[in-house]
Amino acid sequence: VLAPALELLVAELDSLGSLGMEERADATGAVLLLAYFPAGSVDAGVLTAAAARCGARWLGCEPVPPADWDRSWREGLGARCIGGLWIRPSWCASQGLPELVLDPRQAFGTGEHATTRLALRLLLEQLRPGDRVLDVGTGSAILALAALRRGAVPAVGVDCDPLAAREAAENARLNALPLQVVCGTPDALDPAHGFEVVVANLLLAQLEPHAAQLGRLARRALILSGSLEAQRPRLDALYAATPWRPVRELTEEQSGDRWLARVLHARSRQS
Ligand SMILES: C[S@@+](CC[C@H](N)C(=O)[O-])C[C@H]1O[C@@H](n2cnc3c(N)ncnc32)[C@H](O)[C@@H]1O
Repeated sequence: VLAPALELLVAELDSLGSLGMEERADATGAVLLLAYFPAGSVDAGVLTAAAARCGARWLGCEPVPPADWDRSWREGLGARCIGGLWIRPSWCASQGLPELVLDPRQAFGTGEHATTRLALRLLLEQLRPGDRVLDVGTGSAILALAALRRGAVPAVGVDCDPLAAREAAENARLNALPLQVVCGTPDALDPAHGFEVVVANLLLAQLEPHAAQLGRLARRALILSGSLEAQRPRLDALYAATPWRPVRELTEEQSGDRWLARVLHARSRQS
């Protein structure tokens, strides 16, 4: 498939009932698109015609050996210890305490992504017992629940996605932790009620419009994750004209991307 035709072909195959698609590069660097269909659900002629309409070359059909996909997916996920805290799905036996039990559902945040792990390590380093913690873009609430498990009082999780807000509240209930969930953006919060630690695992473009408000809400530490190392100049520019200064940084590579997370302290509070 040539790149301009790819989107069109993906849309065509989707409308024909594909269960999922996978892009790979062939030996020449061209895109090879694998589309999965229930056996016998679509005629090879229909697929050949769809490929031709999109300027792609049809390579053929192959049966996929039967497998217990749900089981293999579950087997790929296990308990992880991040910053001294165990995170495990409910089907894994406990490996130690303290722990959080989080099953992967639709909201982001099981510890499988580098940005979550970086944010969690920095959060647990910065946290002191009794800190008030705000988790912006809480997703599954992994960060806010970790803070509560390690002595934060209170922790508030904010997410603009109602589905994430529901899952965050459900995860808090399952872990018997008193998380306060706000469905919205950090602009809904009053800076008069500050938080010793504000953590935000957001893509840089999502963080940028709210950076000033996070600076107003944080009292001691601001923890930012979700930017690529290549975006460092944009991240530096966010707080350059404020008292917030980077004091610690971690990076981690995942699938060819190097992610960056940092802690900022307010200059007047550092000395
Ligand atoms: C990368 S996930 C982080 C989830 C979790 N905190 C973690 O570290 O794994 C980002 C989350 O931020 C939410 N989000 C994006 N923009 C937001 C905004 N402006 N205000 C609140 N939440 C936002 C998304 O819905 C998503 O759940």
